[in-house]
Amino acid sequence: MHMDRRERNYLIFTIALLVVFAALILGSSFAYGIQVPEPVDQVDPNTVATAPSPWGLPLEERVRELAPNKYEAYILAQTWTFLPNRIEVPVGSTLTLYVTSKDVQHGFVLQKTNLNMMIIPGQVSSLTATFDEPGEYKFICHEYCGVGHQTMFGTVVVTE
Ligand code: CUA
Repeated sequence: MHMDRRERNYLIFTIALLVVFAALILGSSFAYGIQVPEPVDQVDPNTVATAPSPWGLPLEERVRELAPNKYEAYILAQTWTFLPNRIEVPVGSTLTLYVTSKDVQHGFVLQKTNLNMMIIPGQVSSLTATFDEPGEYKFICHEYCGVGHQTMFGTVVVTE
């Protein structure tokens, strides 16, 4: 098959670029420990907000201390709030979040960290953060989810 020299060079250049991009993505994910969030469990969005589901427990029971400085939180996303929308942990803590939605698709991004995930009804998204600085860390919904989308946020309060 005859191919113009310039066309062949463009093809080689394009393939080389793809190889470079793939190497950069893989290299940075290993070098910086970047995790791609993936669903850790499946739930029924129709019953997820009802006990004994951990997202159906009273709000104060949805944040659990597993060990000193090791916490987990079960956050339910719904139009247009996160429940609980205020989580308090001491500085130095590691917090694992389990987030799901009982209605539509939401998003979850935690400021000043690299936590960023999609919240899909029926699936549980999970990521872990360690807080070395005291302060307030806002989490916000960053997937458009209806007219109240801009009011959907919460706070992780890291105390001294
Ligand atoms: Cu929930 Cu936007």
